[in-house]
Amino acid sequence: MPGKKNIPPLKKEFPALSRKISKKAIIYLDSACTALKMKSAAREQSDFLLKFGGCAGKRSVHLLSREVEAEFCAARKAIALFIGAKSPEEIVFTSGTTEALNIAAASFPFKKGAEVILSPLEHNSVFLPFYRLSKLGKIKLRIIPLKDFKPDFSAYKKMLNAKTALVCVTRASNVFGGAVDIKKFINAAHKNGAKVFVDAAQYIPTHKENVSGLNADMLAFSGHKMGAPFGIGVLYIKKSLFKSLNSSKLGGGTVKEIAYKGGSYKVDFFKNNAVYEAGIQNYSGAAALRKSFEVLNKIGYQNIRARIQEIVQYACAKLSSFEKIRVLGNRAELKNGSIVSFICENPRFSIVDFNIFLNEYSSKHFVAVRCGRHCADLAVLNSDIKSTIRLSFFIYSSKRDIDVFCVALGAYLKSLS
Ligand code: ALA
Repeated sequence: MPGKKNIPPLKKEFPALSRKISKKAIIYLDSACTALKMKSAAREQSDFLLKFGGCAGKRSVHLLSREVEAEFCAARKAIALFIGAKSPEEIVFTSGTTEALNIAAASFPFKKGAEVILSPLEHNSVFLPFYRLSKLGKIKLRIIPLKDFKPDFSAYKKMLNAKTALVCVTRASNVFGGAVDIKKFINAAHKNGAKVFVDAAQYIPTHKENVSGLNADMLAFSGHKMGAPFGIGVLYIKKSLFKSLNSSKLGGGTVKEIAYKGGSYKVDFFKNNAVYEAGIQNYSGAAALRKSFEVLNKIGYQNIRARIQEIVQYACAKLSSFEKIRVLGNRAELKNGSIVSFICENPRFSIVDFNIFLNEYSSKHFVAVRCGRHCADLAVLNSDIKSTIRLSFFIYSSKRDIDVFCVALGAYLKSLS
């Protein structure tokens, strides 16, 4: 069991794991929604807030401001290195993946008649900004069909055409788990002259990413799914793309110069990350995000993957032993993700009752999972599934969590008979 051996005990790093709810221990199987938070990252944020005073962005030039600017730059540089960006300038700090998607959709220079292709696994935060653009007549939205819980690559290739401006593909589905082999989607889009946005929110927390190797044009993720605080995330933008994007969110820090010439105002906007970071930023969040990357790197992504693969395979095997339980997705591929989703084919199974049961059933354990569409309606609407019961894992997850969950599942199924 390489994963188990190499990952140190994490109870100290995740104090929420030691909490009791009605005297019950927490079995947290909802890390895809949001991970429990790392003490090191939370400390980094609070120390930062308590120590530093000024704002970054070269607004004020007193020492307090220069200190914050230096810390913010250091966080940007470190995160660029962690994800394999070629330059810190390619890192735009956002409040999370949702904001990144809204910025990307509103900033992309769509020409008349442009088409945007989305994978059928996209989260609503990907679908909705482009859905609105399509309703406004600014783009035509096209959805790749779903095949075996993955976007159908052959169908996708046929959808690419001279009007395709942008393709959005998730790196890992938050509904069905596994990971999408997106390199081939990116290569095909590029051959066709289109750009690619990658939603890596569900991938970055437990995988080593290399945006340059991937050749993504844009990529986004959220800190809160990897143990960092809420309200900080990253939009990676390939440097060469900055000159063609038009920032949708303007304000302080986005301009080189505003002048009054020839009877009107002239504004010279930055053509780099600064134009996407209008106003005062979440400097402490950026420092905390850097810290959570440091913790993950110290553990080692090989160890993280080994541990999570083992848990995914264990969960698949245990769940499949129950009658009328169907694990979704291809078993061999599920181990590349951090999620196991299943359905129960017993018509008396109620996800609402089951959720309550999970909290109430045991006197020792409070079990938290997520059931439903997981804010990814496209994935559900493009399949024959109405909703799923989802177990999602992070570095603190264990096979014991699965054992506890399966005892409760067994008891619930028995109560239906
Ligand atoms: N995207 C989050 C989830 O999958 C909210 O639960």
